Amino acid sequence: MQNSSAKEQSRDKKYFIATYGCQMNVYDSEVLAGHLEELGYSAAKNEEEADVLIINTCAVRKKAEEKVFSRLGMLRELKRKKPDMIIALWGCMVQQEGVARKIKERFNFIDLVSGPNALGRFPELLETAGSSEQTVFDLNLSGEREFLPIKRAKNFKAWVPISHGCNNFCSYCIVPYVRGPEKSRLPENVIAEVKELAQSGFKEITLLGQNVNSYGKDLQQKIDFADLLCKLDQLDNLPRIRFMTSHPRDFSEKTVRAIAEGKNICEHIHLPLQSGSDRILEKMNRGYTRSYYLELIDMIRKMIPGSSITTDIIVGFPGEDEEDFAMTMELMDKVRFDAAYIFVYSPRRGTKAAEMKNQVPAGVKRERVIQLNKLQSGIVLEKNRLLLGSIQEILVEGKSKTDKNMFTGRTRTNKIVHFPCSDNLLGKFVNVKIEEARAWNLIGIIN
Ligand code: 5AD
Ligand code: SF4
Repeated sequence: MQNSSAKEQSRDKKYFIATYGCQMNVYDSEVLAGHLEELGYSAAKNEEEADVLIINTCAVRKKAEEKVFSRLGMLRELKRKKPDMIIALWGCMVQQEGVARKIKERFNFIDLVSGPNALGRFPELLETAGSSEQTVFDLNLSGEREFLPIKRAKNFKAWVPISHGCNNFCSYCIVPYVRGPEKSRLPENVIAEVKELAQSGFKEITLLGQNVNSYGKDLQQKIDFADLLCKLDQLDNLPRIRFMTSHPRDFSEKTVRAIAEGKNICEHIHLPLQSGSDRILEKMNRGYTRSYYLELIDMIRKMIPGSSITTDIIVGFPGEDEEDFAMTMELMDKVRFDAAYIFVYSPRRGTKAAEMKNQVPAGVKRERVIQLNKLQSGIVLEKNRLLLGSIQEILVEGKSKTDKNMFTGRTRTNKIVHFPCSDNLLGKFVNVKIEEARAWNLIGIIN
């Protein structure tokens, strides 16, 4: 905890946090903001105005890393102009092999370099960084994540981690190396947090974990993800419970039933497929086959009518040939996902797949992404058109980024809808009549 003089000194001081990557990172940034506010800092409008600047990084694909390095190049000048500014590089990217060395050699103006699991140690790290001539490093994978301060970005929807880290070791993925082994939070802590959110007026929570379906396996008490969902569903005044990400291998019938029978659990499942080829799925170490995946989809659709299913796909995994890719195209066509995030395979140093032979040429990968996206946007458009004329319950989330006269919200099935609205309805539920269907969103009017 901070002492009063530290708080005194940081009065009028400002912070800015730039976040890359997944929702877990968005949550981690909210905890960093919570610490800073507790220390007396307030939010800056931009990075130039900040006394503490944190770049919260991602390591999943090379692109995210390149963006950060180019931003660091520009920050060198800012630090020259404002030498007292503390610049921190936070999160998954710095935990990667070779990155800390690169920072030492090429970006020694950075004050603090820390992995994602040092969240609980942030106040001390900040203080040390502020008084040290040299860059302070904290790459320890262990760390306390309970009972930390938090400054949530919104007061009606919240992220709630249920587990941290990952034990799956999919052969392409860096996450187990940078976030460490999977650790479930105690159910009583999760339930207490969600209960408090519901009591203070939050309308929607999203449970977060790299693999929510393996929740509880590492705990002493007997509890699994379906049990947790059922307990949360019983809380009062919490109309929307979401969760991500699901691993097909661990998705039990009991969980499908919990969603089907729950009253507040949203009918949306993000279920990364990654590839439609059994040969590639095996090389990815995913632990399921295409026929298993199809059966799971079948069960979900039968037991949860009206549910939406979204997915992640990686194209150009090492050794993926035309036939493998055709299997992915065919499966996407068959399943008809409500949305698909299609990524070009990006080799991550230290993972098994990065060492595999037969890396797919960049041009081929690009071509395959274009083909899959084309197929998928046709499917989404077709599915969205089925909603024309229907009335959907929408949680008003904010102004549209592209049209300042429009607001944005989501259906229970996680479809984005734009509609004219007023500020006083922010964070409230409205009924919207769908009038136009597009490939990535829907347009409507309040009914
Ligand atoms: N290259 C490309 N995409 C990846 N993902 C994970 N690792 C990689 C990688 N090395 C994708 C997966 C995952 C999503 C979060 O990012 O599809 O589900
Ligand atoms: Fe999130 Fe994974 Fe990126 Fe870390 S590496 S920010 S866990 S997507």
